[in-house]
Amino acid sequence: MTDRNQTKESPEKKAAGIYAASLVKDGDAVGLGTGSTVAYTIKELGRRVREENLNIVGVVTSYQSEAIAIEAGVQLTTLAQTPRLTIAIDGADQFDEKFFAIKGGGAAHTREKIVSMSADRFVIVSDPGKQSKTLSVAVPIEVMPFAKELVMTSLKELGGEPVLRAAAKKDGPVITDNGNFVIDCAFGEIEYPADLAAELSQIPGVVEHGIFMNVDAVVIGKADGSVEVIEK
Ligand code: A5P
Repeated sequence: MTDRNQTKESPEKKAAGIYAASLVKDGDAVGLGTGSTVAYTIKELGRRVREENLNIVGVVTSYQSEAIAIEAGVQLTTLAQTPRLTIAIDGADQFDEKFFAIKGGGAAHTREKIVSMSADRFVIVSDPGKQSKTLSVAVPIEVMPFAKELVMTSLKELGGEPVLRAAAKKDGPVITDNGNFVIDCAFGEIEYPADLAAELSQIPGVVEHGIFMNVDAVVIGKADGSVEVIEK
């Protein structure tokens, strides 16, 4: 999984993030994901707003993206005001050949799923390291604190290895932007992501899991600044 504390520039992420901003057109309502790759997209959208008079509104998926968008000068709205978005752009922790993805390394996947499902088109921006034949990284699962024990037990019964995500600079667990816990659950190679997604959704207290099934395209950035775009 991505090191969330990394601060150094990634040419691959930069290439993917900046290219994805070119997919946004005048008048679009844009879902703005969370993470280091889509941060490049948000900043580039801000540049286009300033230098090309691009007229867009964005809906953010986290406090982090909100701060980046405000700093970049991207006008923001809410799903209450703009329920349908033209495009959503976001990073991922891993994606497979069938366009299934795992997200939530930054604990933002619940809002990311709501925003991406509100969009006509959902584009993932990634470095090449996240491409995999089969999904295999641990699945982040946002959980109501009240339900932690039941969810941990249920995940073990499904064959998973659940671990409550610990905060980095706070004693105890990570608390999401929605006030919940996150459990990272390894399932080994996930051969049937849709089946696992359905099972996870049925556990009481699970707010949202990080398996995404609505990806329309993936932009993979390369170190030389070029990109590969894979359409579903
Ligand atoms: C946030 O919870 C995640 O879904 C991110 O979108 C994902 O972890 C990608 O992050 P990076 O672009 O920082 O690798």
